[in-house]
Amino acid sequence: MTLENLQLPLATMLDLASGDMDPYALVVERRLSHMAEAYHDRAAVTAAAGEDPVIYRAYEADVPHEASQLVYRMTIIEPGRIGDEFYMTKGHHHVVDSGEFYLGTAGTGAVVMQTRSGEVRVEEMPPGRAVYVPPGWAHRSVNVGTEPFVFLAVFFGNAGHDYASIERDGFAVRVLADGDGYRVG
Ligand SMILES: [Fe+2]
Repeated sequence: MTLENLQLPLATMLDLASGDMDPYALVVERRLSHMAEAYHDRAAVTAAAGEDPVIYRAYEADVPHEASQLVYRMTIIEPGRIGDEFYMTKGHHHVVDSGEFYLGTAGTGAVVMQTRSGEVRVEEMPPGRAVYVPPGWAHRSVNVGTEPFVFLAVFFGNAGHDYASIERDGFAVRVLADGDGYRVG
């Protein structure tokens, strides 16, 4: 590899409290209308559709989506619910089965993980708690608190995002409000 085509190191400031990233290469913003089918309370979806709230956004560092690369993102899930179901990410499998590293940095959240054969695990991710998602586990993050839930994710550049299988089959469990807390139902 010559100096001309050698990739340069990248340094990025991550605001662990707010989720801001500087610099970032792209930002993903998901509103309710991007994932309305994910929520089970259809009347609540209809009631919120006019406002079309931002559910979450993610800042991604300028790393190529290629094999051997480690892409990293800061994701901020807003606090809120659609009916009794907390704001959450769409959730996905990786196209190329591969692990993902998560680190909670602010707020109160949980990660729902599920294999293609339907095995489910849910892990809480308070600030400072790392969760490793092994290859073959779909993953969805949920804000179960009243403040923005912020986390760092690191995944392989060639992982790819298979959202379609989750849109079709969903997750076997939902994270639902239960008093001041939550339950997995
Ligand atoms: Fe992922």
